Amino acid sequence: MTTAFGIDIGGSGIKGALVDLDKGVFIGERLRIPTPQPSTPDAVATVCAQIAQEFEIGEDIPIGIDFPAPLPDGKVPWMANLDQSWVGKNLADVMEQKIGRRVHVLNDADAAGLAEMRYGVGKNYSGVVVVTTLGTGIGSALFVDGTLVPNTEFGHIEVGGKDAEKRAAASVRKKKNLSWEEWASRLERYYGTLEKMLWPSAIIVGGGVSRKHDKFLPLISISTPLVPAQLRNTAGIVGAAAYAFEREH
Ligand code: BGC
Repeated sequence: MTTAFGIDIGGSGIKGALVDLDKGVFIGERLRIPTPQPSTPDAVATVCAQIAQEFEIGEDIPIGIDFPAPLPDGKVPWMANLDQSWVGKNLADVMEQKIGRRVHVLNDADAAGLAEMRYGVGKNYSGVVVVTTLGTGIGSALFVDGTLVPNTEFGHIEVGGKDAEKRAAASVRKKKNLSWEEWASRLERYYGTLEKMLWPSAIIVGGGVSRKHDKFLPLISISTPLVPAQLRNTAGIVGAAAYAFEREH
């Protein structure tokens, strides 16, 4: 069995699990620790080290860590939803200092997208495919024939003069108490804009809310197939693990 370890850093929880990469599923339990507040580099890395220690991961098992910001050259250029002191930090350096071994890092939506393309519904599509994650923010991952184009930030395109995730993220639906119809109409405008920029063969919709896809996806009418993600809340960890393995082999 091919295995790797994945850690998913989110705004509310940091989660880790060992992954069976032949099937794209967890081996055993997932461990979740609430994200420390403030979510500074030192505090977050300490939690990741704690998770890695708990699982006693062998040196031969690659570790992948995903993070809710773009990471060009491994550095955080700006931070939407974690502590601002991350800006300018090299994520792998911060993690390796605490964990004491090599790790591989990538954006959280890129990780979720990778998992969806390798093990989920993404397997059915070729050409240009966009994966979006609807959560606290909107994350995006772009694939061309299964190859990731990293660090896209389509959650921050301007729609109607506003940052898209501030109007259409799943957290906004809750905070503003929007009905499914109201939210779907915001999403239609968002996905319609993405469609006109990229003309993908499919847009895959992930994030926790995707398990309720029947409540909002049928209300959105655009030309591109809008498909619910299959992996749901395992996607980040599975994708981070798959990425780490691919980097080492
Ligand atoms: C960040 C992205 C991230 C997404 C989902 C956005 O605010 O800019 O990098 O992928 O949230 O966490």
